[in-house]
Amino acid sequence: MKADADSMTWKTGEHTGVSEHMLLTVEQGKRLIDRLEQKHGLPMAEMTALIDANCPKLRDYVRLKAREIGDRIYGKNIYIRGLIEFTNYCKNDCYYCGIRCSNTKAERYRLSREDIMACCREGKKLGFRTFVLQGGEDPYYTDDCIVDLIHQIRTAFPDCAITLSIGERERESYERFWEAGADRYLLRHETAAESHYQKLHPENLSLKHRKRCLWNLKEIGYQTGCGFMVGSPGQTSEHLAEDFTFIRELQPEMVGIGPFIPHSDTPFAEETQGSMELTLYLLSLLRIQQPDLLLPATTALATIHPRGRELGIEAGANVVMPNLSPVGVRDKYALYDGKVCTGEEAAECRNCLERRMESVGYHIAVGRGDHRNIDF
Ligand code: 5AD
Ligand code: FES
Repeated sequence: MKADADSMTWKTGEHTGVSEHMLLTVEQGKRLIDRLEQKHGLPMAEMTALIDANCPKLRDYVRLKAREIGDRIYGKNIYIRGLIEFTNYCKNDCYYCGIRCSNTKAERYRLSREDIMACCREGKKLGFRTFVLQGGEDPYYTDDCIVDLIHQIRTAFPDCAITLSIGERERESYERFWEAGADRYLLRHETAAESHYQKLHPENLSLKHRKRCLWNLKEIGYQTGCGFMVGSPGQTSEHLAEDFTFIRELQPEMVGIGPFIPHSDTPFAEETQGSMELTLYLLSLLRIQQPDLLLPATTALATIHPRGRELGIEAGANVVMPNLSPVGVRDKYALYDGKVCTGEEAAECRNCLERRMESVGYHIAVGRGDHRNIDF
Protein backbone atom coordinates (compact mmCIF):
# COMPACT_ATOMS: atom_id res chain seq x y z
CA MET A 1 0.00 0.00 0.00
CA LYS A 2 1.53 3.25 -1.06
CA ALA A 3 -1.53 5.43 -1.07
CA ASP A 4 -1.22 8.85 0.42
CA ALA A 5 2.47 8.42 0.92
CA ASP A 6 2.90 12.13 0.24
CA SER A 7 3.41 13.06 3.83
CA MET A 8 3.69 9.74 5.62
CA THR A 9 6.97 8.24 6.56
CA TRP A 10 7.69 4.57 6.17
CA LYS A 11 9.85 2.48 8.37
CA THR A 12 10.96 -0.90 7.30
CA GLY A 13 11.07 -3.89 9.55
CA GLU A 14 10.88 -1.92 12.80
CA HIS A 15 9.25 -4.53 15.05
CA THR A 16 8.94 -7.74 13.18
CA GLY A 17 11.86 -7.49 10.81
CA VAL A 18 9.43 -8.36 8.06
CA SER A 19 6.55 -5.96 7.78
CA GLU A 20 6.64 -2.32 6.90
CA HIS A 21 5.30 0.10 9.49
CA MET A 22 3.99 3.48 8.60
CA LEU A 23 4.50 6.05 11.33
CA LEU A 24 1.81 8.68 11.49
CA THR A 25 1.71 12.13 12.95
CA VAL A 26 -1.47 13.07 14.82
CA GLU A 27 -2.62 15.13 11.84
CA GLN A 28 -2.11 12.22 9.49
CA GLY A 29 -3.97 9.98 11.92
CA LYS A 30 -6.91 12.39 11.92
CA ARG A 31 -6.99 12.39 8.15
CA LEU A 32 -7.13 8.59 8.09
CA ILE A 33 -9.95 8.66 10.62
CA ASP A 34 -11.85 11.13 8.42
CA ARG A 35 -11.30 8.81 5.49
CA LEU A 36 -12.51 5.82 7.51
CA GLU A 37 -15.66 7.81 8.22
CA GLN A 38 -16.21 8.63 4.55
CA LYS A 39 -15.31 5.26 3.04
CA HIS A 40 -16.38 2.93 5.88
CA GLY A 41 -13.12 1.07 5.63
CA LEU A 42 -9.40 1.51 5.05
CA PRO A 43 -6.82 -0.58 3.20
CA MET A 44 -4.89 -2.96 5.46
CA ALA A 45 -1.66 -0.93 5.73
CA GLU A 46 -3.49 2.28 6.56
CA MET A 47 -5.69 0.57 9.13
CA THR A 48 -2.61 -1.01 10.70
CA ALA A 49 -0.90 2.36 10.87
CA LEU A 50 -3.98 3.93 12.40
CA ILE A 51 -4.16 1.24 15.07
CA ASP A 52 -0.45 1.70 15.79
CA ALA A 53 -1.04 5.43 16.14
CA ASN A 54 -3.28 4.90 19.22
CA CYS A 55 -2.44 7.85 21.49
CA PRO A 56 -4.42 10.19 23.81
CA LYS A 57 -4.95 12.85 21.12
CA LEU A 58 -6.28 10.42 18.55
CA ARG A 59 -8.38 8.67 21.19
CA ASP A 60 -10.03 12.00 21.96
CA TYR A 61 -10.59 12.61 18.28
CA VAL A 62 -12.15 9.20 17.57
CA ARG A 63 -14.18 9.21 20.75
CA LEU A 64 -15.92 12.47 19.97
CA LYS A 65 -16.53 11.45 16.38
CA ALA A 66 -17.78 7.99 17.37
CA ARG A 67 -20.17 9.42 19.96
CA GLU A 68 -21.49 11.98 17.51
CA ILE A 69 -22.20 9.21 14.99
CA GLY A 70 -23.74 6.92 17.61
CA ASP A 71 -25.98 9.69 18.94
CA ARG A 72 -27.11 10.58 15.44
CA ILE A 73 -28.33 7.03 14.88
CA TYR A 74 -29.36 5.75 18.28
CA GLY A 75 -29.83 8.96 20.28
CA LYS A 76 -29.09 8.63 23.98
CA ASN A 77 -30.48 5.09 24.09
CA ILE A 78 -28.50 2.20 25.48
CA TYR A 79 -29.95 -1.22 24.78
CA ILE A 80 -29.90 -3.93 27.41
CA ARG A 81 -29.73 -7.67 26.84
CA GLY A 82 -30.28 -10.16 29.62
CA LEU A 83 -27.49 -12.70 29.54
CA ILE A 84 -28.33 -16.23 30.68
CA GLU A 85 -25.19 -18.33 30.98
CA PHE A 86 -26.90 -21.70 30.98
CA THR A 87 -23.98 -24.14 30.79
CA ASN A 88 -20.26 -23.95 31.43
CA TYR A 89 -19.54 -27.39 30.00
CA CYS A 90 -17.53 -27.06 26.82
CA LYS A 91 -16.08 -29.62 24.46
CA ASN A 92 -13.51 -27.15 23.16
CA ASP A 93 -10.10 -26.40 24.56
CA CYS A 94 -9.38 -22.79 23.57
CA TYR A 95 -6.15 -21.76 25.26
CA TYR A 96 -7.51 -18.46 26.62
CA CYS A 97 -10.77 -19.66 28.12
CA GLY A 98 -11.41 -20.62 31.73
CA ILE A 99 -14.14 -23.13 30.87
CA ARG A 100 -12.00 -25.03 28.34
CA CYS A 101 -12.50 -28.79 28.65
CA SER A 102 -8.99 -29.38 30.04
CA ASN A 103 -9.61 -27.17 33.03
CA THR A 104 -10.44 -29.79 35.60
CA LYS A 105 -10.70 -27.13 38.30
CA ALA A 106 -13.77 -25.54 36.69
CA GLU A 107 -16.88 -26.46 38.64
CA ARG A 108 -19.35 -27.43 35.95
CA TYR A 109 -23.08 -26.69 35.91
CA ARG A 110 -26.07 -26.83 33.62
CA LEU A 111 -29.33 -24.96 33.99
CA SER A 112 -32.55 -26.87 33.45
CA ARG A 113 -35.26 -25.61 31.17
CA GLU A 114 -37.22 -24.52 34.24
CA ASP A 115 -34.21 -22.58 35.56
CA ILE A 116 -33.84 -20.82 32.22
CA MET A 117 -37.53 -19.94 32.05
CA ALA A 118 -37.30 -18.54 35.58
CA CYS A 119 -34.40 -16.29 34.47
CA CYS A 120 -36.51 -15.06 31.55
CA ARG A 121 -39.49 -14.32 33.83
CA GLU A 122 -37.27 -12.36 36.19
CA GLY A 123 -35.73 -10.54 33.23
CA LYS A 124 -39.10 -9.67 31.76
CA LYS A 125 -40.15 -8.17 35.09
CA LEU A 126 -37.01 -6.04 35.11
CA GLY A 127 -37.73 -4.67 31.64
CA PHE A 128 -35.57 -6.93 29.48
CA ARG A 129 -36.90 -7.66 26.00
CA THR A 130 -33.89 -9.61 24.77
CA PHE A 131 -32.61 -12.83 26.24
CA VAL A 132 -29.18 -14.06 25.30
CA LEU A 133 -28.72 -17.79 25.84
CA GLN A 134 -25.01 -18.26 26.14
CA GLY A 135 -23.03 -21.36 26.91
CA GLY A 136 -19.97 -23.41 26.18
CA GLU A 137 -20.23 -25.88 23.30
CA ASP A 138 -22.12 -28.47 25.30
CA PRO A 139 -23.40 -31.50 23.35
CA TYR A 140 -25.81 -32.26 26.22
CA TYR A 141 -28.06 -29.60 24.70
CA THR A 142 -28.90 -31.30 21.44
CA ASP A 143 -30.53 -29.44 18.57
CA ASP A 144 -33.89 -30.86 19.69
CA CYS A 145 -33.30 -29.52 23.20
CA ILE A 146 -32.44 -26.05 21.92
CA VAL A 147 -35.42 -26.03 19.55
CA ASP A 148 -37.75 -26.95 22.43
CA LEU A 149 -36.27 -24.25 24.57
CA ILE A 150 -36.68 -21.61 21.86
CA HIS A 151 -40.31 -22.67 21.31
CA GLN A 152 -41.02 -22.38 24.97
CA ILE A 153 -39.45 -18.92 25.32
CA ARG A 154 -41.05 -17.73 22.09
CA THR A 155 -44.49 -18.83 23.32
CA ALA A 156 -44.14 -17.40 26.82
CA PHE A 157 -42.49 -14.12 25.73
CA PRO A 158 -43.71 -13.32 22.21
CA ASP A 159 -42.50 -9.72 22.39
CA CYS A 160 -38.92 -10.62 23.33
CA ALA A 161 -35.94 -11.21 21.07
CA ILE A 162 -34.10 -14.50 21.48
CA THR A 163 -30.35 -14.44 20.95
CA LEU A 164 -28.26 -17.59 20.88
CA SER A 165 -24.57 -17.76 21.69
CA ILE A 166 -23.76 -21.46 21.72
CA GLY A 167 -20.87 -21.73 19.31
CA GLU A 168 -20.32 -23.58 16.09
CA ARG A 169 -23.06 -25.88 14.83
CA GLU A 170 -24.13 -27.23 11.45
CA ARG A 171 -25.99 -24.96 9.08
CA GLU A 172 -29.04 -27.22 9.41
CA SER A 173 -29.02 -26.69 13.18
CA TYR A 174 -28.87 -22.92 12.74
CA GLU A 175 -31.79 -23.21 10.32
CA ARG A 176 -33.85 -25.18 12.81
CA PHE A 177 -33.18 -22.66 15.59
CA TRP A 178 -34.17 -19.86 13.25
CA GLU A 179 -37.41 -21.58 12.30
CA ALA A 180 -38.14 -22.20 15.98
CA GLY A 181 -38.02 -18.45 16.57
CA ALA A 182 -34.46 -17.38 17.40
CA ASP A 183 -33.69 -13.89 16.07
CA ARG A 184 -30.02 -13.27 16.68
CA TYR A 185 -26.76 -15.18 17.07
CA LEU A 186 -23.49 -14.15 18.66
CA LEU A 187 -20.33 -15.95 17.60
CA ARG A 188 -17.10 -14.06 18.05
CA HIS A 189 -14.62 -14.85 15.31
CA GLU A 190 -11.85 -14.24 17.93
CA THR A 191 -9.29 -13.19 15.30
CA ALA A 192 -9.56 -12.92 11.53
CA ALA A 193 -5.92 -13.85 10.98
CA GLU A 194 -5.27 -17.52 10.27
CA SER A 195 -1.86 -17.75 12.00
CA HIS A 196 -3.16 -15.94 15.06
CA TYR A 197 -6.24 -18.16 15.22
CA GLN A 198 -3.95 -21.16 15.44
CA LYS A 199 -2.03 -19.60 18.30
CA LEU A 200 -5.23 -19.27 20.32
CA HIS A 201 -6.89 -22.58 19.51
CA PRO A 202 -6.04 -26.27 19.32
CA GLU A 203 -5.70 -27.90 15.92
CA ASN A 204 -9.23 -29.24 15.66
CA LEU A 205 -10.63 -25.70 15.47
CA SER A 206 -10.28 -23.62 12.35
CA LEU A 207 -10.89 -20.03 11.40
CA LYS A 208 -12.32 -21.21 8.10
CA HIS A 209 -15.08 -23.12 9.82
CA ARG A 210 -15.71 -20.27 12.23
CA LYS A 211 -16.13 -17.84 9.36
CA ARG A 212 -18.33 -20.29 7.49
CA CYS A 213 -20.62 -20.45 10.52
CA LEU A 214 -20.86 -16.65 10.56
CA TRP A 215 -21.68 -16.47 6.85
CA ASN A 216 -24.31 -19.19 7.31
CA LEU A 217 -25.91 -17.28 10.15
CA LYS A 218 -26.03 -14.09 8.08
CA GLU A 219 -27.50 -15.92 5.10
CA ILE A 220 -30.20 -17.57 7.18
CA GLY A 221 -31.29 -14.14 8.35
CA TYR A 222 -30.03 -13.86 11.92
CA GLN A 223 -28.94 -10.49 13.24
CA THR A 224 -25.39 -11.69 13.64
CA GLY A 225 -22.64 -10.68 16.03
CA CYS A 226 -18.95 -11.42 15.62
CA GLY A 227 -16.08 -10.03 17.67
CA PHE A 228 -12.63 -10.47 19.10
CA MET A 229 -10.52 -10.02 22.20
CA VAL A 230 -8.18 -7.07 22.41
CA GLY A 231 -4.62 -7.89 23.41
CA SER A 232 -4.91 -11.66 23.17
CA PRO A 233 -1.49 -13.35 23.17
CA GLY A 234 0.42 -12.84 19.94
CA GLN A 235 -2.00 -10.24 18.58
CA THR A 236 -0.45 -7.53 16.40
CA SER A 237 -1.92 -4.39 14.87
CA GLU A 238 -1.95 -6.18 11.50
CA HIS A 239 -4.17 -8.86 13.02
CA LEU A 240 -6.51 -6.18 14.31
CA ALA A 241 -6.56 -4.54 10.88
CA GLU A 242 -7.61 -7.93 9.50
CA ASP A 243 -10.43 -7.99 12.01
CA PHE A 244 -11.64 -4.65 10.67
CA THR A 245 -11.42 -5.91 7.09
CA PHE A 246 -13.36 -9.06 7.94
CA ILE A 247 -16.02 -7.01 9.74
CA ARG A 248 -16.29 -4.78 6.72
CA GLU A 249 -16.95 -7.83 4.55
CA LEU A 250 -19.35 -9.58 6.89
CA GLN A 251 -21.31 -6.44 7.84
CA PRO A 252 -22.51 -7.97 11.12
CA GLU A 253 -25.28 -6.30 13.09
CA MET A 254 -23.26 -6.50 16.29
CA VAL A 255 -19.57 -6.66 17.25
CA GLY A 256 -18.46 -7.66 20.74
CA ILE A 257 -14.96 -6.71 21.79
CA GLY A 258 -13.32 -6.72 25.19
CA PRO A 259 -9.82 -6.96 26.62
CA PHE A 260 -8.19 -10.36 26.94
CA ILE A 261 -7.90 -11.17 30.65
CA PRO A 262 -5.77 -14.15 31.69
CA HIS A 263 -7.39 -17.02 33.55
CA SER A 264 -5.10 -18.65 36.06
CA ASP A 265 -5.96 -22.24 35.10
CA THR A 266 -5.26 -21.91 31.38
CA PRO A 267 -2.09 -22.07 29.29
CA PHE A 268 -2.30 -18.26 29.02
CA ALA A 269 -2.23 -17.71 32.79
CA GLU A 270 1.00 -15.70 32.65
CA GLU A 271 0.13 -13.64 29.61
CA THR A 272 -0.45 -9.89 29.78
CA GLN A 273 -3.94 -8.48 30.01
CA GLY A 274 -5.27 -6.46 27.06
CA SER A 275 -5.22 -2.69 27.37
CA MET A 276 -8.25 -0.60 28.16
CA GLU A 277 -7.04 2.33 26.09
CA LEU A 278 -6.66 0.18 23.00
CA THR A 279 -10.08 -1.41 23.58
CA LEU A 280 -11.69 2.04 23.78
CA TYR A 281 -9.83 3.25 20.70
CA LEU A 282 -11.00 0.19 18.72
CA LEU A 283 -14.59 0.60 19.93
CA SER A 284 -14.56 4.12 18.51
CA LEU A 285 -12.99 2.99 15.24
CA LEU A 286 -15.66 0.30 14.89
CA ARG A 287 -18.42 2.87 15.40
CA ILE A 288 -16.82 5.08 12.73
CA GLN A 289 -16.29 2.24 10.25
CA GLN A 290 -19.82 0.89 10.60
CA PRO A 291 -22.05 3.59 12.16
CA ASP A 292 -25.17 1.46 12.78
CA LEU A 293 -23.39 -1.32 14.71
CA LEU A 294 -24.74 -2.61 17.98
CA LEU A 295 -21.65 -2.35 20.12
CA PRO A 296 -21.62 -3.64 23.70
CA ALA A 297 -19.59 -2.19 26.54
CA THR A 298 -18.56 -5.63 27.75
CA THR A 299 -18.20 -7.22 31.17
CA ALA A 300 -14.51 -7.78 30.43
CA LEU A 301 -14.08 -4.02 30.03
CA ALA A 302 -15.90 -3.48 33.33
CA THR A 303 -13.60 -6.05 34.91
CA ILE A 304 -10.37 -4.22 34.13
CA HIS A 305 -11.59 -0.75 35.11
CA PRO A 306 -14.20 0.36 37.69
CA ARG A 307 -15.79 2.66 35.10
CA GLY A 308 -15.10 0.40 32.13
CA ARG A 309 -18.68 0.28 30.92
CA GLU A 310 -19.17 4.03 31.17
CA LEU A 311 -15.93 4.64 29.30
CA GLY A 312 -17.06 2.11 26.71
CA ILE A 313 -20.29 4.04 26.19
CA GLU A 314 -18.36 7.29 25.91
CA ALA A 315 -16.15 5.67 23.29
CA GLY A 316 -19.15 4.76 21.13
CA ALA A 317 -20.75 1.60 22.56
CA ASN A 318 -24.56 1.42 22.80
CA VAL A 319 -25.37 -1.94 24.41
CA VAL A 320 -24.90 -3.44 27.88
CA MET A 321 -25.48 -7.07 28.71
CA PRO A 322 -26.11 -7.61 32.41
CA ASN A 323 -26.32 -11.09 33.79
CA LEU A 324 -29.63 -12.82 34.49
CA SER A 325 -28.13 -16.15 35.52
CA PRO A 326 -28.94 -17.35 39.06
CA VAL A 327 -26.42 -15.92 41.53
CA GLY A 328 -25.53 -19.45 42.63
CA VAL A 329 -23.84 -20.25 39.31
CA ARG A 330 -22.53 -16.82 38.32
CA ASP A 331 -18.96 -17.22 39.48
CA LYS A 332 -18.71 -20.62 37.79
CA TYR A 333 -19.04 -19.07 34.34
CA ALA A 334 -15.48 -17.85 34.68
CA LEU A 335 -13.93 -17.31 31.27
CA TYR A 336 -11.28 -15.08 32.88
CA ASP A 337 -10.17 -14.09 36.39
CA GLY A 338 -11.87 -11.37 38.40
CA LYS A 339 -15.13 -11.15 36.48
CA VAL A 340 -17.38 -8.45 37.96
CA CYS A 341 -21.04 -8.74 38.96
CA THR A 342 -20.91 -12.37 40.06
CA GLY A 343 -22.44 -11.63 43.48
CA GLU A 344 -25.23 -9.26 42.46
CA GLU A 345 -28.83 -10.18 41.81
CA ALA A 346 -30.18 -9.32 38.36
CA ALA A 347 -32.22 -6.45 39.80
CA GLU A 348 -29.14 -4.95 41.43
CA CYS A 349 -27.19 -4.99 38.16
CA ARG A 350 -30.16 -3.54 36.32
CA ASN A 351 -30.37 -0.57 38.71
CA CYS A 352 -26.63 -0.17 38.93
CA LEU A 353 -26.38 0.01 35.15
CA GLU A 354 -29.20 2.50 34.94
CA ARG A 355 -27.28 4.82 37.27
CA ARG A 356 -24.02 4.24 35.47
CA MET A 357 -25.52 5.07 32.09
CA GLU A 358 -27.19 8.17 33.48
CA SER A 359 -23.89 9.33 34.95
CA VAL A 360 -22.60 9.74 31.38
CA GLY A 361 -25.79 11.22 29.94
CA TYR A 362 -27.45 8.08 28.53
CA HIS A 363 -30.46 6.00 29.50
CA ILE A 364 -31.51 2.40 29.23
CA ALA A 365 -33.99 1.89 26.42
CA VAL A 366 -36.82 -0.55 26.89
CA GLY A 367 -37.82 -2.65 23.90
CA ARG A 368 -36.06 -5.29 21.86
CA GLY A 369 -33.40 -2.94 20.53
CA ASP A 370 -33.21 -4.43 17.09
CA HIS A 371 -30.45 -3.48 14.76
CA ARG A 372 -31.32 -0.35 12.89
CA ASN A 373 -30.34 -0.76 9.29
CA ILE A 374 -29.93 2.70 7.99
CA ASP A 375 -28.59 4.04 4.73
CA PHE A 376 -25.40 5.93 5.21
N1 5AD B 1 -10.48 -12.90 28.42
C1 5AD B 1 -11.39 -12.14 27.78
N2 5AD B 1 -12.37 -12.62 27.02
C2 5AD B 1 -12.47 -13.96 26.91
N3 5AD B 1 -13.32 -14.73 26.22
C3 5AD B 1 -13.03 -16.02 26.46
N4 5AD B 1 -11.97 -16.11 27.28
C4 5AD B 1 -11.60 -14.83 27.57
C5 5AD B 1 -10.56 -14.25 28.34
N5 5AD B 1 -9.67 -15.01 28.99
C6 5AD B 1 -14.33 -14.18 25.31
C7 5AD B 1 -14.21 -14.84 23.94
C8 5AD B 1 -15.54 -15.55 23.79
C9 5AD B 1 -16.43 -14.73 24.68
C10 5AD B 1 -17.67 -15.44 25.11
O1 5AD B 1 -15.62 -14.42 25.77
O2 5AD B 1 -14.06 -13.84 22.94
O3 5AD B 1 -16.00 -15.59 22.47
FE1 FES C 1 -23.72 -5.47 38.20
FE2 FES C 1 -23.20 -2.84 38.79
S1 FES C 1 -23.73 -3.78 36.92
S2 FES C 1 -23.44 -4.54 40.14
